[in-house]
Amino acid sequence: MESIWTDSAVPSLRDPLQTDLRTDAAIIGGGLAGILTAYWLKKRGIRAVVLEARQIGSGQTGRTTAKITLQHGLILSRLSDNLGEKTMQGYAAASEAAIRSYEQIVRTENIDCDFTQRTACLYTKQVPEILQREQALAESCGIPAEFRTQSELPFPVAGVLRYENQASFHPLKFLRALADSLEIYENTQILQAEEDILITQRGKIQAKHVIFACHYPFVNFPGLYFARMHQERSYVLALEHTTALQGMYYGIDPDGYSFRPAGRYLLMAGGNHRAGENDAGGAYQELRTAAQCFFPGVAIARQWSAQDCMTPDGIPYIGRFAASTPNWYVATGFGKWGMTASMAAAELITDLICDGESPYAPIFDPGRFTLTASAHAVAAEMAHAVQGLSKGFFHIPQKTLDSLPMGHGGIVEFEGQKAGVYRDEQGEIHVVSARCPHLGCELAWNPDEKSWDCPCHGSRFDFYGNLLDNPAQTGIG
Ligand SMILES: Cc1cc2nc3c(=O)[nH]c(=O)nc-3n(C[C@H](O)[C@H](O)[C@H](O)COP(=O)(O)OP(=O)(O)OC[C@H]3O[C@@H](n4cnc5c(N)ncnc54)[C@H](O)[C@@H]3O)c2cc1C
Ligand code: FES
Repeated sequence: MESIWTDSAVPSLRDPLQTDLRTDAAIIGGGLAGILTAYWLKKRGIRAVVLEARQIGSGQTGRTTAKITLQHGLILSRLSDNLGEKTMQGYAAASEAAIRSYEQIVRTENIDCDFTQRTACLYTKQVPEILQREQALAESCGIPAEFRTQSELPFPVAGVLRYENQASFHPLKFLRALADSLEIYENTQILQAEEDILITQRGKIQAKHVIFACHYPFVNFPGLYFARMHQERSYVLALEHTTALQGMYYGIDPDGYSFRPAGRYLLMAGGNHRAGENDAGGAYQELRTAAQCFFPGVAIARQWSAQDCMTPDGIPYIGRFAASTPNWYVATGFGKWGMTASMAAAELITDLICDGESPYAPIFDPGRFTLTASAHAVAAEMAHAVQGLSKGFFHIPQKTLDSLPMGHGGIVEFEGQKAGVYRDEQGEIHVVSARCPHLGCELAWNPDEKSWDCPCHGSRFDFYGNLLDNPAQTGIG
């Protein structure tokens, strides 16, 4: 199901690229990261062209909950414990600067996008001391944060940590308004990237600078992003007839939820799992049950889901793509905080292209990854991939075609081969390849979305086999 954002933002209609093109900067992907990068580059006098496989905003940006905040869960405690004070302070400063840049752009470009200043809160029902520590760290970064033991939430809390002057907005109204003055080609998928040449179905682009803002980089070598990121999926309900909340909330307990007012709706998100690991389903049902408990009589107006790339240390990969490709840049691994991360990425990459340096480059440097420092995380990702691959070769399907009830899918033996089969509500069967075209892992059925999801790096496909989410770049028909 589409998000609420698509109802109220005028769709952009841009032509596909039809011929060869030369430009200063080519940006792959028209989500928030790509459009903001094009915006800042244009401001600095650089000709930037956005190449978007579908429509701008049709990726995760169109399905976000769109909180613009530096309150990224318990990020300060995590960074302080694992990477030290300097990195923590730099990360906080970059996020704070990103919020102020949104304010500035909305004001100077006069963008009507429901931009609203709000308080962003972390809450816990269990251990208030964890929030008090996060508060102390925030204050050590110069960020005011207030701890309280009561909140406007419809259940008792043990603690709430409040950050004033954060914001929310309508992500697609903002994106499309900003895109108006930019050079964009839609329905233009980049099929291949070779140094300064990008290849599409109809034309080649030659660019001095290439920016991968396509959510998950689809080039496997160099960069090895597939070995040091995974994707996590979350589910969102748009609720009506709830008590009105003023603030935005994020629960730090294992059963915590995210809440955020949006006009007549209250958005509630949760049900997180690694993409490709939801065979049992029930994520929407869990959210619905909790919503009914918190807000008796609530109506569910809409439901949708989205996913984001997670790095081992919680910091996005923003900067130079790899040492061997000095004119390539990347913005990925936003860890479900891509509103501020997209702005930070756009400004950082613009600074690298225009000035050769950025004060935030060392913090987000994709090259901070070394086999020694990240050995544990890389080993875990590789183990996952090996499991997914070996499943494809050695796993014998547990289900048979006849045992699949209507409305269910599973990996079965079909005409002597392993296949993904979905039997729809009318009894018709839809057969796809069980192997992911990215690196060959076996796909898994996601009953909540009726999609085929890859447990290795999170590519997704609908039951007809069409590509939904990358890094895969083709379907599985
Ligand atoms: C449930 C959920 C809630 C969230 N809520 C928040 C929030 O409240 N606040 C926050 O800060 N963050 C939030 N996030 C994270 C945020 O939504 C994302 O980090 C952000 O939208 C990512 O933007 P992007 O531009 O990197 O990717 P996308 O928006 O996915 O854009 C990438 C684009 O690249 C295109 N593309 C891919 N491959 C190619 C190719 N080969 N050629 C051309 N184009 C290509 C795609 O079609 C797509 O349009 C949330 C995430 C989830 C999962
Ligand atoms: S997403 Fe990488 S193998 Fe499927």
